[in-house]
Amino acid sequence: MSESQVLSLAIEDICTQHHGQVSPLLPILHEVQSRCGCIADEAVQIIAARLNLTRAEVGGVVSFYTDFKTQPPAGRSIKICRAEACQANGGREVWEAALAAAESHMEGAVEVEAVYCLGNCACGPSAQIDGQTLGRLNPQQIVTLVNALAKGDDL
Ligand code: FES
Repeated sequence: MSESQVLSLAIEDICTQHHGQVSPLLPILHEVQSRCGCIADEAVQIIAARLNLTRAEVGGVVSFYTDFKTQPPAGRSIKICRAEACQANGGREVWEAALAAAESHMEGAVEVEAVYCLGNCACGPSAQIDGQTLGRLNPQQIVTLVNALAKGDDL
């Protein structure tokens, strides 16, 4: 069985699991990305067919939310909050330290991504790695985290 066929079966399976659910598109997209690493054009086509939507409708939702990726990530990624509550508590220094640390590694090894609020405002500066939200970060801690991601360590 080819990789494409395996991918198609996985997406079909996810769609089947959400069959009958009210507004299943977002849960399906989240699960496809979680299991496949991204939402490729092929996935958009299958999901659209299963939900009786156009490819443009599904693709529009994928492109609207920055969390959805259409290409698999080259390396690990870290999301850093750049919204006001975190910025007021040292978020700018954390952001700059993360960028500098990521640049010290091979290109694409760690993607530092700006997000605007992780719902952890009282504990900022905040970041998120693999869905895990971290708070009260300082520049030294973020450098340690970025270096660990670049080495492929689990956190
Ligand atoms: S402002 Fe950073 S988590 Fe809300």
